[in-house]
Amino acid sequence: MKVTVVGAGGNVGATTAFAIAERDYAKEVVMVDIERKEGDKTFYPSKGRGLDMWQTAPIQSFDTRLTGTVDYKDTANSDVCVITAGIPRKPGMSRDDLLSINGNIVKSVTEQLVKYSPDTIIIVVSNPLDVMTYVAHAASNLDSKKVMGMAGILDTARYRAFLAEALDVSPKDIQAMLMGGHGDTMVPLPRYTTVSGIPVTQLIDDATLNDIVERTKKGGGELVGLMGTSAWYAPGTAAAQMVEAIMLDQNRIFPCAAYCDGEFGISDLFIGVPVKLGKGGIKEIVEIELDEHETKLLRASETAVRSTLDDFKKLMDN
Ligand code: LAC
Repeated sequence: MKVTVVGAGGNVGATTAFAIAERDYAKEVVMVDIERKEGDKTFYPSKGRGLDMWQTAPIQSFDTRLTGTVDYKDTANSDVCVITAGIPRKPGMSRDDLLSINGNIVKSVTEQLVKYSPDTIIIVVSNPLDVMTYVAHAASNLDSKKVMGMAGILDTARYRAFLAEALDVSPKDIQAMLMGGHGDTMVPLPRYTTVSGIPVTQLIDDATLNDIVERTKKGGGELVGLMGTSAWYAPGTAAAQMVEAIMLDQNRIFPCAAYCDGEFGISDLFIGVPVKLGKGGIKEIVEIELDEHETKLLRASETAVRSTLDDFKKLMDN
């Protein structure tokens, strides 16, 4: 089993690669990134990080071979490719500000990946997430079941972590579902949130729950404000969890950005929905019931994602 992570000289990609290697099921993780020139020196961040990580293998006790490269030839025949390439958010930047820069990067990365792995599965992590997933799908010519975006696992992880803290319980016992785009319009679903099967609404008051929902929506921005750049531990491990579900055919039910073709009344758009993830990619979109309020929130999120996609298409036409 071979996995490629593009953008692995950066924090999100490196975290993804390391999280995969530590689980020790993959034969090989190839870490791609561009070289960086400083004066008369040339640096190779993904080669350096790959070497450093590989040297943890005797300590952390895994066999997965990590290697860094700048050459897409080395990614040939990857089962899964994760795209984290692009510039991260800086303070004051919205995810959409990244649109044209990251759009061009994701397009060209995808073309390189499918050239050497024409049957691969692609997981997009670059922002603005839902639109970048659309771009990767368009550039790949792959079946839509094989192209998806990572956001929902990250967003629910933040939501679950906040709930665990508020309820003083193990985060492991909190199950949650969330839909919509990866942005301020995301739709956490308290009705589909439980603590070991107990509806969370029985355990927490409305005001606290509402604060947690709002904090989750701005979860990425909170971290940008603290660090001056966007987060990587939770985004990286969330992407690794998707890789694992696919490679080990786990049939996990996760919120992922998937191509909707009529599901939830949404057409021709990648957006966060519950999916069954296993061998071959997305096995199905799980069409859960939404009440009137949840449907309204999802429509608003759909509108926001579609408008970013339209902006992107306009930028590309010019
Ligand atoms: C975040 C970025 C990765 O939510 O979108 O932290």
